[in-house]
Parts: sequence; structure tokens; C-alpha cells
Amino acid sequence: NWMNPKTASMVQELVKEKAVEALKKCFASRMEFGTAGLRAAMGPGISCMNDLTIIQTTQGFCCYLEQSFGNLKERGVVIGYDARAHPPSGGSSKRFASLAAAVFISRGVPVHLFSDITPTPFVPFTVSHLGLCAGIMVTASHNPKQDNGYKVYWENGAQIVSPHDKGISKAIEENLEPWPESWNTEEALKSPLLKDPYQDVHTQYFKAIQKHCHHREINKSSQVKIVHTSVHGVGHTFVQSAFKAFDLHPPYAVEEQKDPDPEFPTVKYPNPEEGEGVLTLSFALADKEGASVVLANDPDADRLAIAEKQESGQWRVFSGNELGALLGWWIFHCWRQQNPDTAAVKNLYMLSSTVSSKILRAIALKEGFHFEETLTGFKWMGNRARDLLDQGKTVVFAFEEAIGYMCCSAVLDKDGVSAAAIAGEMVSYLATKNISLSQQLTTIYEEYGYHISKNSYFICHDQDVIRSLFDRLRNYGGQKDSYPTECGRFSISAVRDLTTGYDSNQTDKKAVLPTSRSSQMITFTFSNGGVATMRTSGTEPKIKYYTELCAAPGNSDVTHLKKELDDLVDAIVENFFEPVKNKLQPKPE
Ligand SMILES: *[C@@H]1O[C@H](CO)[C@@H](O)[C@H](O)[C@H]1NC(C)=O
Ligand SMILES: *[C@@H]1O[C@H](CO)[C@@H](O)[C@H](O)[C@H]1NC(C)=O
Ligand SMILES: *[C@@H]1O[C@H](CO)[C@@H](O)[C@H](O)[C@H]1NC(C)=O
Repeated sequence: NWMNPKTASMVQELVKEKAVEALKKCFASRMEFGTAGLRAAMGPGISCMNDLTIIQTTQGFCCYLEQSFGNLKERGVVIGYDARAHPPSGGSSKRFASLAAAVFISRGVPVHLFSDITPTPFVPFTVSHLGLCAGIMVTASHNPKQDNGYKVYWENGAQIVSPHDKGISKAIEENLEPWPESWNTEEALKSPLLKDPYQDVHTQYFKAIQKHCHHREINKSSQVKIVHTSVHGVGHTFVQSAFKAFDLHPPYAVEEQKDPDPEFPTVKYPNPEEGEGVLTLSFALADKEGASVVLANDPDADRLAIAEKQESGQWRVFSGNELGALLGWWIFHCWRQQNPDTAAVKNLYMLSSTVSSKILRAIALKEGFHFEETLTGFKWMGNRARDLLDQGKTVVFAFEEAIGYMCCSAVLDKDGVSAAAIAGEMVSYLATKNISLSQQLTTIYEEYGYHISKNSYFICHDQDVIRSLFDRLRNYGGQKDSYPTECGRFSISAVRDLTTGYDSNQTDKKAVLPTSRSSQMITFTFSNGGVATMRTSGTEPKIKYYTELCAAPGNSDVTHLKKELDDLVDAIVENFFEPVKNKLQPKPE
């Protein structure tokens, strides 16, 4: 009597084939519920995303919310989903969303379940808009097609932070046995506790971004042609609507990629961060239509990539940091024009994660607004933005180098839909002045100082190797608790270790940002304006490094700056990675 015959027959098949390794992959250990929720392959077993693990997770989450909110039954939750599906196991985002709804409804909790796919940012928007206790989005964002995920938002409209992850994890362990009604999606879909927020949220979201993120009218007759791709994800109709809300010409949609398709048939990985391969069809359409700019969302439309055709005819794909500079400049530029009162700038904030470009810091210093860094991950920026808003501050922009942008405070998370429309507005405005994005980026760097960054990683599966690499940096030259003071010819002026909580540049030597013993992260500041962070990734077997050279305004010898950064990266690899380099694999080309 199997509840899901497809996962059952997958297991029977594996048993018959004596596929021990494959079975271990499915059953060896339960997926860990972290602040990012869950992310794993769809398939049978406790290591995978399937009907049973969704029920168990939601039962735990529901109990945790019952403990946290006395009024959960009055306020309720929202559940959204993307277009992912995995026919072999019968798993899909929509199916998982209805099972999650059944769990909440069986406990008398009102559920706002979207009747159709939505972009991820619709869920945090709905939490705030309807004053709900929490939100769930079933999506694996830009992961490969067999994966799915379960992302969780708290009542403040931001992703959860610790200790909620631990609390939810514990509650999941305590509620593994499915409750009798948890499987009953048919009953749940008929329940008066179930509501469909789709129409209302659709209307309100576009109203909100029109009101809060739309900055200026663009002369229609001079608008540029723009191509948009949703990379087989959910973005298409929403980005079209966002352009309409901003009164911009709708972008040309890449026909082969505009409708949701869980097979992602035209791309190797559905990740616009991978750059050109994902954008091939977009470039072809742009060339055909005479469009000079391509906007690309990832499949759940919470991130945005942009490419621009250069005078040479080549396409330039901007890095996440370069787009952060452009969008940050544009949003400040518009804000300034709408707020000529010079005192108001004291109330204005922009945020970025600590491994992202420091260009906002340079703009803030010159223009007089506040800039703050957070740890990596939008959960930190969303929660910090909420705190600042609660204190009456204005938060207009936050970004991370992984092409995540929050262009207004209507959604306290990255939002690729509003970011696409704002990019469309910026591109159109610049075009009325015959300025390209590349030219504007140069202008920004000339005014606030060049910020040139270079990020990469090594692959390492061995935790001991990772530990020895970082411990060597903390006990440099064999001296306990002593960090390097130079790296090749580069002199180090400050060290911040967010694993141990040390910061040489603070009077009490204590780091300001939260520390985490369970992950490795050290930042070196160099006397030449360089900054380098080395960190481990929570979800992948990687040691990532992020480097940036922040030049003073007026220094525009770009060739020299690039060479200086290349040399700095070489020195870091040679002095900090080299000793264990034979145990590391380089990033694949
Ligand atoms: C809009 O642009 C066109 C062509 O560039 C120009 O002729 C027209 O006067 C502009 N309209 C406004 C209202 O600025
Ligand atoms: C626009 O800029 C390009 C190059 O930046 C220049 O070649 C062209 O003449 C300009 N067009 C106008 C109408 O000013
Ligand atoms: C140390 O902190 C001061 C004040 O916060 C700052 O001006 C300075 O640039 C910092 N130095 C380094 C090396 O980060």
C-alpha cells in the first residue's frame, strides 16, 4: 500500500539491481533543514525531495509556527511554487505545494495557496502584504532540473535566520510520522481554509513596484529595444507585466525559452550566471530584432543578468558586481532628483553582502548616505532592511554579487522581476542621452573610483584539507593566533576572521558581523586598496575567493589596475592556497 507508487517502484528497481551506492544516496541521511530551507534532488528516500519528506518537513514547520505564534490560526501562511517537475518520481513543485497546504489545513491553519506558478519574490511580498505568519516557496531556483527546494520566509517578510532553522529542524524530527490528513490534498483543496491569493497579489505587487520602484517616465518614441529570457522558468508573463506597469515597451521574449519547461531543453544549466551559453538564443533574437540589451532571469525569477551589445558587435555580459554599481547608481540618481532636500540623505541606506563589490560604499561616502555590509546570503540583507525600516529609515537598494538585487523595499529579498523593469527604465533613460550601460559604468568608476573584482574557487571534498588551509592562515609561520602581514609583495593592513570573531581593525579586536564556527571565512584588506575574502560554501564542496581592487577616484589607469589585481590573485593562490594545492581541484573551465 504505497502512497506514491512511483518512488516505491524506483526503490524496488534499485533493490533489484543491487544499486547500493544509489540507495545510499537516497537513504543514508535526512536532508538538513537550514536557513535556506531544503535543496536536494527529487526522488525516493529521506535524502531526497518527495511527498513524504515534504509532509514531514511541513509538519515540523507547522508545529514550530504553532509554538511561535499564538494567532497562527487567524493569520495563516502563503505557499507558492515554480514549474519544476520530475516525472520518474512523480515529484513536482505544484504537488509538493498542495501537500504542504494539506498539512497546514489539517491543523486548522488558513493557507493562501497560489493557483498557478509565481516568481519566488511573490511569496515574501504576500507575507508582508497580507500580514501572514510565514511563507513557503517550492523552488530550486537555478539548480539542475532534477533538484527541488523548499524556501521559508518569516512574518517579517525576510528569509529565516538562526535559530529558527534549528527549531524547525528539531520539530521535523519530532513529527516524522505523517498525520492522517497530511496526504489528503483533495480534501484540503476543498477546505474553506484554503484561499487563492493569485489575482489580488498579482494586482497589488505591480501596484507596489509601480509606486515604490518606478522612477521616471521615458519618452516612448526613444525607447530602446530589449530582449528578455526567462530560461524556461516562471518569469515571462511577470516581466512583461512589470514593463507595462512602468509604461515601457514590452521586451522581445525569446520564444523557445519563454514558457515554463521543467526539462530546460535549450540550456545545459538553467543559470544565467553561467553567462554566454545560456544567452545564445537571446543574442540571436537581439541581433534579429536590432536590440542592444538582453535581460535574463533565472527560472524562479529572483535574479537578473544583463548583457549589452558593444560597438565592436561583441556582447558584454556584466558581472553581478558591475550590475550592482549600475543599479545602485541609477536608484540613487533618481532618489536624489525626487528628494532635493539634502538632509534626507542621512536617512537613506544601501546594503550589500560582504563578498560583493564595495562600490556602494564609495558612492555612499561621496553622496552622504549610509552603506552597510552584511554576511553573505540575502537572508541577512532582508532582515537588516526590515530592522532599518522599522527604525524609520529608507532602504532603497541591496545586492549580492551572485546577481541578486532588491531594488525597493516592497519585497525584502532579491527580486528579478522588479529588477528587470528598473533595468529597462535605466537602459531606456540612458538611451535618450545616447549613453550605453558600458559607458555609464565607466562614468560611475571615474566619479567614485574603479572597482575591479575577480572571483573564483577551488573544489575540495576533504574537510581536513580545508581546515588545515585556514588554520595555517590563523597560525601563520607557525606562530599561534597570528595572521599573515603580507602576501607576496602585497602588504596586509587588516584581517577579519568571521570563523573566530577576530577583527584587527576594531579597537576591541572583535568582529562586528556575526561569526559562525561551522564555516570558514577570512577577509584580508591590503594597503593598495585590495580586499580578498576566502570562504567555504555551506552547500558545495568549494573554497571560494572574492577579490576586489578599490581604486581612489581619479585613478583611471585601468590596465594597470587590472594587472595589479591579477598579481594580487596570483599571490594569494601562491601563498595561501599553494601549500595544499595538490589536494585542490581548480574550477572547471
Ligand atoms: C520624444 O522623443 C522624440 C524623438 O526623439 C521627440 O521628437 C519628441 O519631442 C520627444 N517628446 C517629448 C515629450 O519629449
Ligand atoms: C551616439 O554615440 C555614439 C558613440 O558613443 C556616436 O557614434 C553617435 O554619433 C552618437 N549619436 C548621436 C545622435 O549623438
Ligand atoms: C579601519 O577602520 C577605519 C574606521 O572604521 C577605516 O577608516 C579604515 O579604512 C579601516 N582600515 C582598514 C585597513 O580596513
